[in-house]
Amino acid sequence: MTPATFFTDPTEFEGRRILVTGGTKGAGEAMVRRFAAGGASVATTARLPRSQELPCEIFIQADVATPAGAEKVAKEVLGRLGGVDILVHNVGGSATPGGGFAAITEELWQQELNLNLLAAVRLDRALLPQMIDRGSGVVIHVSSIQRQLPLPDSTTAYAAAKAALTTYSKSLSKELGPKGVRVVSVAPGWIYTTAADAMVKRIAAHGGFDEETARQQILAALGGIPLGRPAQPEEVAELVAFLASPRAASIHGAEYVIDGGTIPTT
Ligand SMILES: NC(=O)c1ccc[n+]([C@@H]2O[C@H](COP(=O)([O-])OP(=O)(O)OC[C@H]3O[C@@H](n4cnc5c(N)ncnc54)[C@H](OP(=O)(O)O)[C@@H]3O)[C@@H](O)[C@H]2O)c1
Repeated sequence: MTPATFFTDPTEFEGRRILVTGGTKGAGEAMVRRFAAGGASVATTARLPRSQELPCEIFIQADVATPAGAEKVAKEVLGRLGGVDILVHNVGGSATPGGGFAAITEELWQQELNLNLLAAVRLDRALLPQMIDRGSGVVIHVSSIQRQLPLPDSTTAYAAAKAALTTYSKSLSKELGPKGVRVVSVAPGWIYTTAADAMVKRIAAHGGFDEETARQQILAALGGIPLGRPAQPEEVAELVAFLASPRAASIHGAEYVIDGGTIPTT
């Protein structure tokens, strides 16, 4: 798939300090590139080192699924940028194997909750007081359509953690709206990241068929995507950039779904 490109005003986020968690791959990388192209000072995080050409001002190597990792990120961002104006909680994912609820051990539950819910909770606790003092800021939680449409074989814990993240985001919006801080959430469906591409290749190799057949199998597991294709990371980044911008100044406490129509109901 050729990456989507959009016109970007190079001054759109000038003077804005932005933290995107998990910005070295997938949708997070596209967000880092989008905000940097818009003139922002971007900080990002990952467990592994970043590639040198990633256009971020600050890179913090840390596991944000742990309290110590989240603390390290918050400390460095506050110390080096003096705070954040826009905070995008992009980190997330699932490592649970197939086998339904019985396969999800205590450890796996903790792991999914730490990565998909508590990383955001802990970073918000550390970084939001400063936004509240200033009376401005934007917080975006990246959830998933699986919060409404779980796939029970392998993502029950992930889906439950994302559902909790969405509810947490809503509650936060009620508390922080009157204090000048906007809070929104984004729920992607299937995003065609490099990890998704690798998964397609794995399924094709394992099944002994071509990649298009593997892609169709995934689409079928999702119940189909009316647009016929997954979203590109750049398209998710464009939605996040819009929601973070002053053009979305009245959007608050809402969830934006980007799934090509996958969710079968309104
Ligand atoms: N891809 C999809 O189809 C899809 C669908 C719905 C929702 N989403 C959501 O969209 C978001 C982005 O997903 P993605 O598929 O683009 O992700 P991805 O390609 O797997 O990339 C994840 C990023 O987060 C970093 N990361 C992962 N665990 C981390 C940790 N514990 N601490 C710090 N950094 C960590 C990774 O770097 P390291 O590995 O180096 O740590 C990488 O930069 C997630 O919240 C995901 O749940 C994705």
